[in-house]
Amino acid sequence: MLTKEENEMLTRVGKGTPMGKFFRKYWLPVGISADLKTKPTFVRVLGEDLVLYRDKSGTVGLLDARCAHRRANLCLGTSMNKGLMCRYHGWVFDADGTVLRTPSEGQSDFRLSIKQKAYPVQELGGLVFAYMGDGLAPLLPNFDFLAAEGERHVKDGKDPMGVIRDPAGNHVHVIPAWEYDVTEAEFKKGMAETAASSPSH
Ligand code: FES
Repeated sequence: MLTKEENEMLTRVGKGTPMGKFFRKYWLPVGISADLKTKPTFVRVLGEDLVLYRDKSGTVGLLDARCAHRRANLCLGTSMNKGLMCRYHGWVFDADGTVLRTPSEGQSDFRLSIKQKAYPVQELGGLVFAYMGDGLAPLLPNFDFLAAEGERHVKDGKDPMGVIRDPAGNHVHVIPAWEYDVTEAEFKKGMAETAASSPSH
């Protein structure tokens, strides 16, 4: 039987924990390509609250769910032709975390000193993968069940597991559920938290 300490060690995946460091060495599935339209989606991956979005040019991004400006909820943001716009003061972030626009700061170059936390993403086999480790991302493995020609079905797991099937209907891979739609209640809670934690601007 595991000790309390061993159990803690094996189940904690936050940044800096042993298992968190381990899982951050790999590309992780964080969303389903076909489901990712222009509405930003909240995802919690390895204990981090993130927003997954597709801008109107088709670029996919994975950013810290809290805006670098005043911590507003970016899941409430708007997909732009390029990047994601925070709904609170209109800052726009690119997929690599670059701040593209800061209308609340006038014409200053202040934006150049700020970076939104962002993780690299790639789409393969109908899934969106993210790399959350330090340094350069490794190559995303072109596994046959992801990269081979042919029809592929990806099941959205509201239940605890999502399943990828090959064309014959066999289970070829099992992945943890990663996707959580932001409910109306969560939207309202996020707005209330933002209002409570942000000084008036
Ligand atoms: S632009 Fe996001 S909180 Fe101000």
